[in-house]
Amino acid sequence: MKVWFVTPYREEPAMRIGVLTGGGDCPGLNAVIRAVVRKGVSVYGHEFVGFRDGWRGPLEGDTMPLDIGAVRGILPRGGTILGSSRTNPIKIEGGVDRIKENLASTGVDALIAIGGEDTLGVAKQLYDRQVKVVGVPKTIDNDLSGTDYTFGFDTAVNIATEAIDRLHTTAESHHRALICEVMGRHAGWIALHAGMAGGANVILIPEKPFDIDRVCEYVESRFRTRYSPIIVVAEGAHPIEGQMELQAGTLDAFGHVRLGGIGEVLAKEIEKRTGKEARTTVLGHIQRGGTPTAYDRVLATRFGLQAIDAAHEGDYGKMVALRGTDIVRVGLDEATAELKTVPVSRYSEAEVFFG
Ligand code: F6P
Repeated sequence: MKVWFVTPYREEPAMRIGVLTGGGDCPGLNAVIRAVVRKGVSVYGHEFVGFRDGWRGPLEGDTMPLDIGAVRGILPRGGTILGSSRTNPIKIEGGVDRIKENLASTGVDALIAIGGEDTLGVAKQLYDRQVKVVGVPKTIDNDLSGTDYTFGFDTAVNIATEAIDRLHTTAESHHRALICEVMGRHAGWIALHAGMAGGANVILIPEKPFDIDRVCEYVESRFRTRYSPIIVVAEGAHPIEGQMELQAGTLDAFGHVRLGGIGEVLAKEIEKRTGKEARTTVLGHIQRGGTPTAYDRVLATRFGLQAIDAAHEGDYGKMVALRGTDIVRVGLDEATAELKTVPVSRYSEAEVFFG
């Protein structure tokens, strides 16, 4: 039965809205959930249900209560109280129909899906099949087109920058080349920003295959100045074809290769070619864990507020986005059309400091 609420905006039937978080987790997810629920309940009078572990929740009808009590105290907490997964319902036979059935049987009128390229790609396909859905962009990689920044990115960059600062001092004590491997499968935003902020001597990103001869020249020139080189490498960076041998990775449900390992390969090659000791630190999931920065908490909160406004107004098929300092809505199709990679001009700015 529908209960009618008189909101400050207009008279509307209260809705039951499902919320899920999909893909790799990222600091700020809980801040979005909190903002959605707090405004949705107190301003609009809607009620919420949490779906556990990304698309697995609606696929299997796995829910959890999501009221104001459930979101108390979660603003600074990393991870996601809803859990996450890389389940891809499009790859599962009858997956979309199962989701539609489960939404109907749990009385869910609309969904707010918080995720990256994959989760929002599924949201777009569900919207095309009449599911009422609003998307919220998240990824530490900052590689979603349609939004200037995603929350989680600032936190990841700060964690990586702190690590680079620490690597500088120990590298110099031991006269070693230290390599810092950061996340970024297809886009080198974390490497670029953390490398610039941390004063790296070379930054290697997936968008630009690197020349190992040139990398070794940078390493040697840095040692000649009596400083130790720090190389920041994105996990998806790769050498110019034929220069070095790389191992193949396994694939996840969205067909993404599971990476990690370029830092080690690079260290061995640098040692072989320069005769200097080279060691690697892989930051891995440390970049995704723990409390979000203030910037990410504010961005995530503003995304959450805009997402519940969109759902309340029935503006489905949209993703909330940051444009300049404004939070706007863009079509899910625009948001998932292509990856936002590092442009040549941004990489050139960083190159001034190489060597
Ligand atoms: O998309 C976010 C991200 O952290 C990527 O930077 C990274 O390649 C990937 O997720 C790792 O995913 P998982 O934790 O599933 O191995």
